[in-house]
Amino acid sequence: ETVDWDPEQAGKGEYDHFMLKEITEQPTALAQAIEGRIDPTSGRIGLSAFEPGSFEAIDSVQFVACGTSYHAALYGSLALNQAGVQATALLANEYSVAAPPVDETTLVIAVTQSGETADTLNALRQATAEGARTLTVTNVVGSTAAREADDALFIRAGPEIGVAATKTFSSQAVILTLLGHRIATDLRGEPSADLESLLPALESMPSRIHELLEHSDAEAIAEQYRDSRSYFFIGRGLGYPVALEGALKFKEITYEHAEGFAAGELKHGPLALVTPETPVFAIFTGQEDEKTLKNAEEARTRGAPVIAVCPDGHPAVEAADEHLSIPETDSDLAGLFANVQLQLLSYYAADLLDRPIDKPRNLAKSVTVE
Ligand code: AGP
Repeated sequence: ETVDWDPEQAGKGEYDHFMLKEITEQPTALAQAIEGRIDPTSGRIGLSAFEPGSFEAIDSVQFVACGTSYHAALYGSLALNQAGVQATALLANEYSVAAPPVDETTLVIAVTQSGETADTLNALRQATAEGARTLTVTNVVGSTAAREADDALFIRAGPEIGVAATKTFSSQAVILTLLGHRIATDLRGEPSADLESLLPALESMPSRIHELLEHSDAEAIAEQYRDSRSYFFIGRGLGYPVALEGALKFKEITYEHAEGFAAGELKHGPLALVTPETPVFAIFTGQEDEKTLKNAEEARTRGAPVIAVCPDGHPAVEAADEHLSIPETDSDLAGLFANVQLQLLSYYAADLLDRPIDKPRNLAKSVTVE
């Protein structure tokens, strides 16, 4: 008698899919990402790869990345802009046609889970050739992007097998938030005031994500809206990259149509698509929430069910049809909690449709062609 033995199956442990396992691993992944990177006495961000003042000579930051990593890069660039640093996130596959100029005061940051994405490597090489300073933020030590950039910063998320990036997005966004504060600190010569509220929020993030995972209503909501025509995600500020990421994850593994929009853009065109068959997931991060609520209400007036992704007791809970709960936290991090709820939503929606969640059709974990 023989026993079928699939090593990947064994690696999944108690989970049906790597994706769910990796979503659940986020508290550990984030604790690893943060560990040793915040100096408890000074409250400063100690990224040991960089000497104090190492970013003093930087005038602007360009992020290059693709897919989910691009959404993390956009998150990082918005956080830097909010800290008063000139930063922009660019799709790596567009970089060769339309890169903004660089010089030695430009820091080009390649964000790539695998460190092997061809489009991202091309952009990194172009930036190097044009004289920019380069840095890779990656999960894979020894990857091509880590070796080729001037410096590398590791997100320490552990191996990710599912084609859909989950824990690595959260870890990238947290590392880019830390790095952003570090760059801003070097440029100003002192830490920004809002670092004081960010650091305790970061420290408590692993346990609060654990709690969110235990009590999520995402499975019931996936079931409730399973027959919808399209799924829309809206967010503002740091909620915007999360809306894009929520939609990418949803389409990638469910094969259903999903789009993410800046909440304020809805009325400039996409509102024409909104019907009772298009649920709108509205992400509230504490950044001009009253405006996002107005945008969500505009969709609801057209008959769309609205699912508010926000803390309990938030005004959006009353105004919406359904609620996915996130903890009250620093607005720098709220979107990342919302993203975990949306990861679960995509997972359960794909599971109901019986999709091959870990290996969606036509997609590869690492895209090594242009
Ligand atoms: C994410 O779910 C996707 N599979 C994809 O968008 C991915 O993020 C992209 O291909 C970039 O990969 P990288 O982070 O390894 O560079």
